[in-house]
Amino acid sequence: MCGIVGYIGPRKARTILIEGLKRLEYRGYDSAGICVYHDGVLGLQKSPGRVSEVEALAEADPVIGAGTIGIAHTRWATHGEPNQANAHPHVDTSGRIAMVHNGIIENYTTLKKFLIDQGCEFTSDTDTEVLVQLIGHFRANSCDVLEDAVRAALQEVTGTYGIVVVSVDEPDKLVVARKGSPLIIGVGADEYVVASDASAIIEHTANVSYLDDGEMAVITREGMRTTTLDNVPINKEVSQIEWSLEEIAKGGYEHYMLKEIFEQPEVTRMAMGGRLDLREMQIILGGLQGIDRELVKTRKIILTACGTAWHAGLVGEYMFEELARIPTEVEYASEFRYRNPIVEDGTVVIAISQSGETADTLAALREAKQKGALALGLVNVVGSTIARYTDAGVYLHAGPEIGVASTKAFTCQLVVQALVAIMLGRRRFMSQSDAKFYMTALSEIPDKIETVLQQSENIKDIVARHVDRDNWLFLGRGYNYPVALEGALKLKEISYIHAEGLPAAEMKHGPIALIHEGMPVVFVATRCDTYEKVIGNIEEVRARKGHVIAVATEGDEEIRKYTDSVIYVPDAPVPLQPMLTVVPLQLLAYHAAVARGCNVDKPRNLAKSVTVE
Ligand code: M6R
Repeated sequence: MCGIVGYIGPRKARTILIEGLKRLEYRGYDSAGICVYHDGVLGLQKSPGRVSEVEALAEADPVIGAGTIGIAHTRWATHGEPNQANAHPHVDTSGRIAMVHNGIIENYTTLKKFLIDQGCEFTSDTDTEVLVQLIGHFRANSCDVLEDAVRAALQEVTGTYGIVVVSVDEPDKLVVARKGSPLIIGVGADEYVVASDASAIIEHTANVSYLDDGEMAVITREGMRTTTLDNVPINKEVSQIEWSLEEIAKGGYEHYMLKEIFEQPEVTRMAMGGRLDLREMQIILGGLQGIDRELVKTRKIILTACGTAWHAGLVGEYMFEELARIPTEVEYASEFRYRNPIVEDGTVVIAISQSGETADTLAALREAKQKGALALGLVNVVGSTIARYTDAGVYLHAGPEIGVASTKAFTCQLVVQALVAIMLGRRRFMSQSDAKFYMTALSEIPDKIETVLQQSENIKDIVARHVDRDNWLFLGRGYNYPVALEGALKLKEISYIHAEGLPAAEMKHGPIALIHEGMPVVFVATRCDTYEKVIGNIEEVRARKGHVIAVATEGDEEIRKYTDSVIYVPDAPVPLQPMLTVVPLQLLAYHAAVARGCNVDKPRNLAKSVTVE
């Protein structure tokens, strides 16, 4: 997804901007660019390729090398193909104003027609160029200063934006504004680094100010002034970024994804830390204090999310119904937001999101809130838009997740949902002994994940036997069904192998037609109530000469009779098993992607956080 960096201060802007873009690469992009002001000129370089290509162009550009104020961008195409003309920054017809933009200007066609009538000449197919031209139009015709022109232009715009604007005529000023696309202002000793993501800032300062929707800031070398779009001054707090650069680095692993898979024991411990009190046998969730009474009376929970987070929600549905006895539904955020959902009294809507910036999830939450629901967030990124929009919530504490494929955030989403479900269950119907049973078992999960991780090489060998196969099935029942879905998603997104996840019993309603000799079929077949039924499904696959790979419970030697390969996980109470069974499937996808020579951390066509619908 698009990334923004801006700089104003005493240092040369080029290095800070290029380094910032490199930190944002993990988000996914298809083109990049940089614009630096120096001595009455804007130096501009753009490329449809990687940031390193822009870096080479910038190094050869004397204006870019000399300036101390500038903007830069990584683009993920929405309007117009990924080419040099469509890459940001964009410049108005006068050539005096440049801008980078994340988001979408929905009414850009109407605005473009108006601007062409006014004599503007367009050089790209983007919606972004329309906005910078509009700013240029207001600056030339009715506004004396850049910020007034930005304000006037934004009043005309429908859509979403995070923008940073620079002008030749006011060369000591960055104007930034936000609606729907994150922007963070890093406040250094005598400099400012603006970015759409904290990872581009933390090298320079841990002090940040989060711009909220409908706010803009004028940043000069002397200081920063924040206002609403109507120019009402706002006092913004400066807070501290919690993550260090070291945390973001790869930590010796070949890929971020592998590092993040191996971090799961540690991060699941963090997700429980200070929350699971085994001595007092209670669960303390600071983010829900103050609304806990209301929560206990919940009549219905709606979990809403996208992608992997939606799979976590499916596990949550089982947990909330079984452990807290609260009727629960799971909704794709992209569907929920548009179908005028029925939200009755006593409904709690819980958004699950790693990034806290997913556009559909945020919109679903807005819809729910408008209909009177209590809105909660289970979010990883502290200070993200969803985290700030919700009435209350619980952070995942998974640490920064850089690999585009979500892994450790998923396990933490399961841990946090388990904490909430057990806490609510205990306040409703759960006995003391049951609460003790689940809480103790939950506290043992991190050590058990470590055991699973030790099988990485075994999983690599299993993968090697099947990696040339282009179609895989993942099957499971009950709590194992969402895990099967997640296993299939992981495999397809990073190895580009076609994979489908299904409830195992659904196989005979159609997909069984796909089974043929040698087709890999992964069963999540742990010991639980439906174990015998799953063995029946395995036999159906074997009868058709499919190759069965099973994720099974340690000690289950019997299952070897029916399968080609087995990956064992330690036993755990059924609602907690997905925290273990998903790990081999993450490793399986990882090793398949490496074996097929795929770009594990930055799969094609994917972005880390999907901030457009
Ligand atoms: O940041 P979020 O958790 O809201 O993101 C939701 C999905 O976009 C995300 O899980 C996506 O499916 C990942 N590529 C999964 O690995």
